[in-house]
Amino acid sequence: MLNRIITDRIFCGLDIGAQKIKAGALKVNEQKELELIGLYESPIYGFNNCSVTNLSDLSECIHANLNGLASKAQIKVKDVQLGIGGDLIKSRGGQAVIPLVDRGHKVITSRDIKHVNEQARLLGTKMDEEILHDLPQNYEVDDVNSALNPLGLYGRKLAVRSISILADANRMRNIVKAVNQAGFDVSRTCFSSYAAAEVALQEESRQRGCILIDLGARSTNVLIFKDNVLQSYEKVAFGGENLTRAIVKNLKISPAFAEEIKRSYVVALESERHQEEEILVKQENEYKPIRRCAIYEAIQEELETLLDQITAVVERSNMRDYLTGGVYAIGGGALLSGLMERIESSVNLPVQLGKVQMLSHKNVQNTALYAPVIGLACGAYKNTFGYSVASNDDDHWTARIVNRMKELYQEYF
Ligand SMILES: Nc1ncnc2c1ncn2[C@@H]1O[C@H](COP(=O)(O)OP(=O)(O)OP(=O)(O)O)[C@@H](O)[C@H]1O
Ligand SMILES: [Mg+2]
Repeated sequence: MLNRIITDRIFCGLDIGAQKIKAGALKVNEQKELELIGLYESPIYGFNNCSVTNLSDLSECIHANLNGLASKAQIKVKDVQLGIGGDLIKSRGGQAVIPLVDRGHKVITSRDIKHVNEQARLLGTKMDEEILHDLPQNYEVDDVNSALNPLGLYGRKLAVRSISILADANRMRNIVKAVNQAGFDVSRTCFSSYAAAEVALQEESRQRGCILIDLGARSTNVLIFKDNVLQSYEKVAFGGENLTRAIVKNLKISPAFAEEIKRSYVVALESERHQEEEILVKQENEYKPIRRCAIYEAIQEELETLLDQITAVVERSNMRDYLTGGVYAIGGGALLSGLMERIESSVNLPVQLGKVQMLSHKNVQNTALYAPVIGLACGAYKNTFGYSVASNDDDHWTARIVNRMKELYQEYF
């Protein structure tokens, strides 16, 4: 019966980006493997600087986007896992400590872990913020015993160090309202880049220590993982649009034209600096010759700024020595030709385009661009079946009672 329900379920992710709305659908096949059955991208209107500027325009865009996905994948979309990013998101480190017993010691239970996590959450959140992800990084038992999972250890007090990913509550509610107004439910809201990490990074890399760089239109998000936990998150207010604007300004051409040149002709490698070869680009009714070296020069200043900022984030994290799992870049900005090599020489770590390994009948290109929606859809599936952290596994009342009995037994015997 369960098998039947699983095979019939479809999971959708919807990523509201600064420039594009992206949606993706997953189906769980008979072997309980996730199968990618559709991806869809469309422009966004009624949304600027991470705020809803026109509710009905944004709803219409979302409606058109999810209907496009539905007809492409031949499915019916009811609810989505929503992804947001940019200025809506911030992170904050938190910590809390709770006493466990007056005298002696006790076995740490999942309730204790939940309790200390809850304390850290309460202490680290402001009124106008909504927690999207509350991520315990490390526990300390009796100030001396550091543990990633303290369940079952003896102790008198328990401390946690955590990182919370927060969203501006009202601006987020407005986006949810636009999705609802478009005719869809929101099952959960997540930080898009964090959702992408679920599918663009191998668990082994996250365990060893690795970086995910999500290069979007207006911002670049840098997430650093170690021990399979997010250790640091920083946003750089710089994205692909900065490069397009630099082309507009330096080559004196229109934004649409500059975007096309960026995608088709920019090669961010040093070898381009001396390329005198000319390309003919059509502007209005005439062809304009532009030297390749001029295209290269047009973006250099902005590109250097982006590279410096990414490198500064890596240095500030103080984690360089642990990052043996590599650096992975995703997002539309990561598709710029030669950019991987430039980031690699700037941060001095091996960099590659993040890929999503997923079963699909269609030949999916540029999964790096769609990693957030695939991650969101995956997250929707995992939520439904109660995956996630160990301390949240006991949501069903029978599981809660059994767990509580086990804990009482451990506490007293
Ligand atoms: N092939 C390509 N080569 C170079 N740049 C590209 C390419 N494809 C897309 N881009 C750039 O990627 C950016 C859009 O990326 P993406 O779709 O990930 O952004 P977004 O999710 O809408 O924005 P954000 O993450 O900032 O909210 C744009 O600046 C676009 O010019
Ligand atoms: Mg994005």
